[in-house]
Amino acid sequence: MADLSVNIGSLMMSNPVMTASGTFGYGKEFEDFVDLEKIGGIIVKGTTLHHREGNPYPRMAETPMGMLNAVGLQNKGVNYFVEHIYPQIKDINTNMIVNVSGSAVEDYAKTAEIINELDKIPAIELNISCPNVKQGGMAFGVSAKGCSKVVKAVREVYKKTLIVKLSPNVTDITEIARAAEASGADSVSLINTLLGMAIDAEKRRPVLSTITGGMSGAAVKPIALRMVWQVAKAVNIPVIGLGGIMDWKDAVEFMLAGATAIQIGTANFIDPAVTVKVSEGINDYLERHGYTSVKDIIGALEV
Ligand SMILES: Cc1cc2nc3c(=O)[nH]c(=O)nc-3n(C[C@H](O)[C@H](O)[C@H](O)COP(=O)(O)O)c2cc1C
Repeated sequence: MADLSVNIGSLMMSNPVMTASGTFGYGKEFEDFVDLEKIGGIIVKGTTLHHREGNPYPRMAETPMGMLNAVGLQNKGVNYFVEHIYPQIKDINTNMIVNVSGSAVEDYAKTAEIINELDKIPAIELNISCPNVKQGGMAFGVSAKGCSKVVKAVREVYKKTLIVKLSPNVTDITEIARAAEASGADSVSLINTLLGMAIDAEKRRPVLSTITGGMSGAAVKPIALRMVWQVAKAVNIPVIGLGGIMDWKDAVEFMLAGATAIQIGTANFIDPAVTVKVSEGINDYLERHGYTSVKDIIGALEV
């Protein structure tokens, strides 16, 4: 076995493979299908200060090699998470990470402050890039100023590893990544979904209730890979790459482009055990190429 361990800030992971928020529930739902302890980190559903209903149906649409979603951060709020969900997931023997979303800077900070008290949650991922909510969400992630504001506020109250999840729906993602780093992020993850749209020609109506939605899956990979490569060159903090990773080969490509760790989202819907298969595939790749550690391939792309 090669050494697959990596660090994201003070977060230590046994391997670089994580689940992407919103695609793996709270982890528990998948325990019959995959050995959760073999996943480097599980990023749970987006959590907000208050209960959110999410958007009306229909909120999913299939696309060639991908999907559109407009779930809209449906969750029961952070206090429900603390009382009812945390007790169920706290003893899962891997890094359980909470994805935090909000509509106002104060909401993000308050939610992060509450989660800071949970011993078994070693990190949060700040979602400043959700395209499916009317207020906030992506609004913070599309300007360096907005990003700085929310990251600084959270950094003041959150003492553990702070990952900031970036939006691809911007002109220059490196500018936002640098703002996150300067404001105290320990890591940036990218990409969240790309803004897209689907139309039902027969009905002459949009397919999604929200008209537009977030595009994910294999089709977005080249864009995500390009952005990870750009951001990895622009910042000194570890980059977590995601967007269209379907197998170990995709994962290795993101790591060669500069990602220290990777996340898998849409592919979980096709194969709930994909994370562990990807981790095994990375190990095989390392052994085949004579690498003893996965760290040897991070940013090892030759151009
Ligand atoms: C159904 C669904 C729900 C999602 N919910 C969230 C969320 O709550 N918070 C978040 O930061 N990202 C959310 N995402 C975005 C994913 O975490 C990921 O960034 C995106 O899907 C790209 O990765 P993929 O192509 O591997 O799916 C969601 C994606 C999907 C498909």
